[in-house]
Amino acid sequence: MKLALLISLSALFQSARGGVPNGLAPKVMIISMFRDEAEVWYNIPEFNVLAQNISVPGLSPLFPNVHCTKDSSICQITVGEAEINAASSIAALIYSGRFTLTSTYFMIAGIAGVNPKVATIGSVTFARYAVQVGLQFEIDAREIPAHFSTGYFPQGSNAPGEFPGTLYGTEVFEVNDALRHLAAQFARRARLKDNTESKAVRTQYAKNPAFAAAAAAPTVALCDTATSDTFWSGNLLGEAFEGTTKVFTNGSAVYCTTQQEDNGTLTALMRGALAKRMDFSRIIIMRSASDFDRPPPAESALANLLGPAPGFESSVLNLHLAGVKVVEAIVTGWSATFERGIKATNYVGDIFGSLGGTPDFGPGSIFK
Ligand SMILES: *[C@@H]1O[C@H](CO)[C@@H](O)[C@H](O)[C@H]1NC(C)=O
Ligand SMILES: *[C@@H]1O[C@H](CO)[C@@H](O)[C@H](O)[C@H]1NC(C)=O
Ligand SMILES: *[C@@H]1O[C@H](CO)[C@@H](O)[C@H](O)[C@H]1NC(C)=O
Repeated sequence: MKLALLISLSALFQSARGGVPNGLAPKVMIISMFRDEAEVWYNIPEFNVLAQNISVPGLSPLFPNVHCTKDSSICQITVGEAEINAASSIAALIYSGRFTLTSTYFMIAGIAGVNPKVATIGSVTFARYAVQVGLQFEIDAREIPAHFSTGYFPQGSNAPGEFPGTLYGTEVFEVNDALRHLAAQFARRARLKDNTESKAVRTQYAKNPAFAAAAAAPTVALCDTATSDTFWSGNLLGEAFEGTTKVFTNGSAVYCTTQQEDNGTLTALMRGALAKRMDFSRIIIMRSASDFDRPPPAESALANLLGPAPGFESSVLNLHLAGVKVVEAIVTGWSATFERGIKATNYVGDIFGSLGGTPDFGPGSIFK
């Protein structure tokens, strides 16, 4: 009794001394980017995140509230689309003083484009690496030198395929691989949704043997994600960013999904971890595939970009179907497993080594 009192008193003083505010301490924070991704978490049978609407200064004016269950164990934030919105919203959340996030699992739950060489529409993927492929030099395709395969090449380099000579630090993030495998295992308990329109699109990709993964049924897959503010389409840019992903991660990452936020989100989370507000080994990057990053044989890049996206509906629904298995497993397994954390056996952090350790990609830690 006395011991318990002492411990709770010391916890009180510690939090006062450290200036780290007390607040709601969710076990899981679901990160959505826009309305459709958010709404799959509302009015569901499993839990009610609309029980508490918490207004947080600095969030997107389109999505000013963080939503939480009554017991605050599960919360959901909508950060807004593309890297600037994502980074700004996550930073506002972390420094709001309304939440204690040091033990919280952050699950990015968004839709994405997909590389038909790796997976298909409707699939749910879990990434280890997030690569900011848009952070590069660019020359318009009509002006590139004859020996260039693409107009994109790393900053501080002379040509595509070279390692960047200049790094901003957000080029690559690596998250906890053991947690990723566990999350995928939970997600595989879900029955993914599919539709006949998606099946028809997949048969188009079957004409190219390199796209066998696109022609197959949707699955839960382990593969990496590429971030850019630019929403691209086409074989040439797809291949260019496959190359960037390889170069930035020294060949480790598999270019699989494409989206506009994750490096922004991860940058803000990494800085939050440096400020001891969150734990960078508790991040899950879940991206379901809504459309292909390049067309099937005999279709143009523009038609692929502007045409119908038959995978949109099932990819949004699958965020909930697969993601809810992950959320439930974390909440029910809290005291047995998740409260103390899943030990990372791989490097976690950014390309600079900001959180300590030595990145297994890039030039190594700059803080040595
Ligand atoms: C929270 O906001 C939603 C609408 O976004 C509303 O349906 C719900 O009733 C609100 N919850 C509370 C407790 O006010
Ligand atoms: C984006 O994030 C991913 C994953 O965290 C990381 O691997 C990648 O290097 C980042 N890219 C940039 C350009 O910051
Ligand atoms: C990654 O590749 C670059 C360029 O070749 C090299 O300088 C760097 O040491 C490599 N990093 C690792 C961890 O292998």
